[in-house]
Amino acid sequence: MNCEEVLVSEQDAVVTIKINREDKKNALTGAMYSAMATALVEAEQNDQARMVQFVGGAESYCAGNDLKDFVEHPPLGNDAPVWQFLQALSSFSKPIIVGVNGPAVGIGTTMLLHCDLVVASSGAVFTTPFTSLGLCPEAGSSLLMPMQMGLKKSAEWLLLGDRFNAEQACEAGVINKVVADAEAVEEQLAAWRKKILRLSPEAIKVSRRLLRQGVTSELQSRIKEEGDHFVELLQSDDAKAAFDAFLNKK
Ligand code: COA
Repeated sequence: MNCEEVLVSEQDAVVTIKINREDKKNALTGAMYSAMATALVEAEQNDQARMVQFVGGAESYCAGNDLKDFVEHPPLGNDAPVWQFLQALSSFSKPIIVGVNGPAVGIGTTMLLHCDLVVASSGAVFTTPFTSLGLCPEAGSSLLMPMQMGLKKSAEWLLLGDRFNAEQACEAGVINKVVADAEAVEEQLAAWRKKILRLSPEAIKVSRRLLRQGVTSELQSRIKEEGDHFVELLQSDDAKAAFDAFLNKK
């Protein structure tokens, strides 16, 4: 499935998923989550596809959930598009590389925790402002962030929702590399694609599975547990007030 705001293409065994809604800073609607989930499921089943790369725009990677769409179509059931996307992402078996420019907010940051290699330009900014929106962490970030960077840093980013820059993201292990600009991001993605495609697909697949084995089973149940709380909190007065404030900002 392709939609205008998520462009999926395949070239030289690489499936590219481009988030393409820059006028809204690449905020994700249900239709966009569905398109991304379908693209991942198809890439998983496609023997010709060796890897996936996610890209946003030169000005914005992803502003997280579209808050208007979230209010109008809350992800109440297990089959809601956002949960389908997270299921497909967290169980994907092939390498995923990502290029980030500009803001990566909410799931724009937490999705990176599932990916293998992430490059960001120096102006990229990251935030997981769940509590400011009356919500809780999602995408397994309450498990993956403390594992990767410890409880103290996770408290700054997941409890307080503090912003962090590309250098800080790199130091904490959210991303692999910081480069000068969007052009350099493209160059780094090309270098990773070339390198991965030279390696044995089977060796990569087994190695990737082994690297992730320690978290795989707990990850699925944590994503589900976070999702249950998230949906409950979404209906709270605090969340409604925070969403209302953003959507009606002057
Ligand atoms: N949901 C819905 N619309 C969003 C959005 C989101 N998450 N993020 C940005 N937009 C829209 C804005 O409403 C604005 O629309 P308009 O031009 O019709 O007024 C447009 O995108 C540009 O956003 P703006 O805030 O003016 O850009 P900015 O460069 O000043 O700031 C961000 C960019 C991403 C830092 C800021 O838009 C932001 O904080 N967005 C909300 C992020 C968020 O809370 N996500 C949910 C996490 S769970």
